[in-house]
Amino acid sequence: MKTVKGMVLLVFGLLIMITLVYAGGSVEKGKKLFNDTTFAGSTNERTCNTCHPGGKGLEDVAEDYAKKADALKDQVNACIKAPLQGKPISADSQQMKDIIAYMKSLGGK
Ligand code: HEC
Repeated sequence: MKTVKGMVLLVFGLLIMITLVYAGGSVEKGKKLFNDTTFAGSTNERTCNTCHPGGKGLEDVAEDYAKKADALKDQVNACIKAPLQGKPISADSQQMKDIIAYMKSLGGK
């Protein structure tokens, strides 16, 4: 009986870990989106990287927006709408998580 309980706990633990990993954003994928001319349905040749080369100027994003995650998402969408001529992405989409994970990685903290 004890082993069964142990197994069940182990499986639950693993499931929780997997969920946490997937709930976060991927820095790798975010970097790709940052350099993708078609990101968010962009209709021009610009990428985020065009105006923020190598993420320049965004190094403090993690700190500056620590308490206002929604404002950061709005800012990403503002930069998608006008500069990229694209369509805003959903605030809780995987792409949003990825691009934010990438920007947060820039500070190196
Ligand atoms: C046409 C140029 C241009 C493009 C393309 C662009 N941005 Fe921006 N972005 C700006 C400007 C200008 C600002 C305002 C600069 C400032 O912070 O004063 C800004 C600000 C930001 C900020 C806020 C920075 C801060 O410190 O508050 C974020 C985050 C951001 N951009 C992310 C992105 C992302 C993600 C993309 C791609 C989807 C992108 N930008 C594409 C020009 C651009």
